[in-house]
Amino acid sequence: MRQTGLDLRRRSIEIILANQTSSGAFIASPTFSQYGFCWVRDGAFIAHALDLAEEHGAAARFHDWMAEVVLARRVGLARAAEAGRRGDIPPVDYLHCRYSADAAESAVVWPAFQLDGPGIWLWSLGEHVVRGGRLTPRRAEAASLIADYLAALWSCPSYDAWEESPEHVHTSTVGAIAAGLRAAGGYLAHGPSAQRSAELAETADLIVRHLRTAAEAGYLPKWPGSGAVDGSLLWLGYPFGLFRLDDPIFATTIERIEAELVSAGGGVFRYLGDTYYGGGEWVLLTAALGSVYAARGAPGDSQKAVRCLEWIEAQADAEGLLPEQVAERALHPEWTHDWVRSWGPSARPLLWSHAAYLVLHGQLESARP
Ligand code: BGC
Repeated sequence: MRQTGLDLRRRSIEIILANQTSSGAFIASPTFSQYGFCWVRDGAFIAHALDLAEEHGAAARFHDWMAEVVLARRVGLARAAEAGRRGDIPPVDYLHCRYSADAAESAVVWPAFQLDGPGIWLWSLGEHVVRGGRLTPRRAEAASLIADYLAALWSCPSYDAWEESPEHVHTSTVGAIAAGLRAAGGYLAHGPSAQRSAELAETADLIVRHLRTAAEAGYLPKWPGSGAVDGSLLWLGYPFGLFRLDDPIFATTIERIEAELVSAGGGVFRYLGDTYYGGGEWVLLTAALGSVYAARGAPGDSQKAVRCLEWIEAQADAEGLLPEQVAERALHPEWTHDWVRSWGPSARPLLWSHAAYLVLHGQLESARP
């Protein structure tokens, strides 16, 4: 049974809230063998979607969980920032990409050094505050620590949003850091920290200038010098607002994503070389493209945004559960079987897919006459 837009909105909120632990963490996918943790990146995007859906209490609980994750590691994170200022990559003290509900590191070896998640968290906390959420002392202290950490480490190579290619400085990661520092520069701008907050805003501006330089070929590359684009670059335009959607660099990036990463069926791939579960179409990226269209509002954009929404709705199962990705038109189907054999079927539900759907759904609802 295909869900109607309204049902899937309600189901998405239910599914997200049902999988928020009492500590405030969002379990990325409750049924997938590898995803029984809260990822910083997923959680931050989910909290933002919940704020837009007026579920401020659940968003607040996530920010509290995140603040405790950070504050429990304050000494190590300060040491990591120190290493970054010396030009080193912190060997052990970095913030991991994911934690268990009770805020512990996972014992499983994982590509844990990812710098985009904490940037997205700083940004998401800013969005929470703009919508009436409180900047409690614990949240402010944690945000301030993370802002220092990212300001020191932003130009380090790290695993990207897809937990891959640790040898590169990823455009999408660096963009997430700029969005986070810019937001934190705003909400940390009180009292004695006014000077520091100006410095955070300057670092964010410096990063955006750096991104423009890296776009020497006229589009935002997956990493400097790469000939490829990546679906995660969409976030730099919307929701982060680092580039105007009609900025020539961003417009060319969208054109390349449309030409190379949108499947014949309408779903969006992560990048052309993707082999994870064969490299299927991702729900959360299809939502991100729809969100860019909805925010841009050029002629034909609202129809394109609706097509993205409908494609997502068609991927929901009878219980309204959305997957991470859809393998039907996978880029490298010869890989799908190996992944299924190792880890079981790919994730469904994925909370972040539901969150991205909610954002697009909300944009289209508010654009109704
Ligand atoms: C994705 C990450 C995501 C994680 C949990 C990974 O496969 O590449 O972006 O954070 O799953 O959803």
